[in-house]
Amino acid sequence: MPARSAYVCQQCGASTPKWAGQCPSCEAWNTLVETVVPGGPRGAKGGARERRAGGGEAAGIEPIGGVTSAEAARLETGMGEVDRVLGGGLVPGSIVLFGGDPGIGKSTLLLQLAARVARAGSAVLYVTGEESSAQVRGRAERVGAVVEGLALLPTTELDVAVNAIAAMRPALAVVDSVQTMASDDLGGPAGSVGQVREVASRLAEVAKAGATCVALVGHVTKEGTVAGPRTLEHLVDAVIYLEGERLGATRLLRAAKNRYGSTEEVGVLEMRSDGLAEVADASRFFLESEQPPVAGSAVTIALEGTRPLAVEIQALAAPAGYGAPRRATTGIDPNRVLMLIAVLARHAGLNLTGHDVYVNVAGGLRIEEPAADLAVAAALASTLRERAVRSGTVLAGELALSGRLRVASRAERRLAEARRLGFSRLVTGPARGDGGSHSSADDGLAAAADLRGALRLALED
Ligand code: TYD
Ligand code: MG
Repeated sequence: MPARSAYVCQQCGASTPKWAGQCPSCEAWNTLVETVVPGGPRGAKGGARERRAGGGEAAGIEPIGGVTSAEAARLETGMGEVDRVLGGGLVPGSIVLFGGDPGIGKSTLLLQLAARVARAGSAVLYVTGEESSAQVRGRAERVGAVVEGLALLPTTELDVAVNAIAAMRPALAVVDSVQTMASDDLGGPAGSVGQVREVASRLAEVAKAGATCVALVGHVTKEGTVAGPRTLEHLVDAVIYLEGERLGATRLLRAAKNRYGSTEEVGVLEMRSDGLAEVADASRFFLESEQPPVAGSAVTIALEGTRPLAVEIQALAAPAGYGAPRRATTGIDPNRVLMLIAVLARHAGLNLTGHDVYVNVAGGLRIEEPAADLAVAAALASTLRERAVRSGTVLAGELALSGRLRVASRAERRLAEARRLGFSRLVTGPARGDGGSHSSADDGLAAAADLRGALRLALED
């Protein structure tokens, strides 16, 4: 079938068959660019190109027992933290997007993974559109990735890359980066929505055809997404983000989409002088200090996926100057903190209106789960009242606007992890009224019905 073209908006990614001055979807002007739509069956949406059975009606039908599952054939990278996030390794024939801010370590990570796979005996091709072979070789020397079986291809031409992958059929092909590759068939420049989509869909095709794992690197753009809103996510099988503060050493891997695994797991890595390394005890990693507790600090046990992580929440309340007091947070949703400030005022008599408030999640972690509420509230109460959290105490539980406290999910699991790290007590909400669950002070679970009660249990007198 011949290639067809469509006009794709460079801003929102919407596609229309006819050119127009204004995008019919997002109403931006002069953003439509002609884009090739593959003529094959995996082309356009809408069902018009459904594959028709060639011979008889039954073509393509097979008994489920005769189908081999993709689970059987994972390509393990050998880096446990990465395999965990991938759901057990890379899946042959799939394409995974590795996104992250420029300079965060994507090229470093993929070069290390490429070397590990090559060292284990599989062929690997690293397509570099951003750096010269010499630059990649320089990095490879630094991270110990000069390995037999790892080949470099410096090019920014999509056709060259695709043909090389099709001819070599490596177990793993890294394409670094999606923003530097371009197809001559398209008008737009490299990095435009049309090009980026073409790169991802052509690579997805060649991955499938040769049972190659394609790892595609993508820089996150200003808007916080890879190359325009949602442009790429539906074209790839998995999206893994590498996150962290550029100046800090901690790097987190998270799946934003994973067709072959959970999106709950996080991987914890550390940037060193010889590349990214797994950390020995990830759970302890986010505990800033093991010193006696100080005012303004509270520890929670967060559950990231199946893994509990001990995390220190730091808060500082300082008398505000003129005007509206400042509220600044890192690693936690500022709106959640505003809510907790209001709950503290209304239900614990702790008024922060006259204070600038800073809340920081130690170690560069981002906390999403509401069970962190209680530790944030305790850190705030602790800084305001200049009382430390009792030694050996961790907190986890969600706060309602009414000031009531809910028990954290899997509280026993969290307590077990707290114990392993040398804490003795988890302050949380009351056990759900199912009669069967137990909660008593001596097994380490200390339950309070509301914020006031929890602060009484948690803070020193
Ligand atoms: P890089 O992988 O080039 O980032 P990206 O591909 O995401 O843009 O990593 C860049 C940073 O990582 C750079 O500032 C230097 C640092 N780095 C180390 O700290 N140790 C190392 O071993 C390497 C290779 C890089
Ligand atoms: Mg790079």
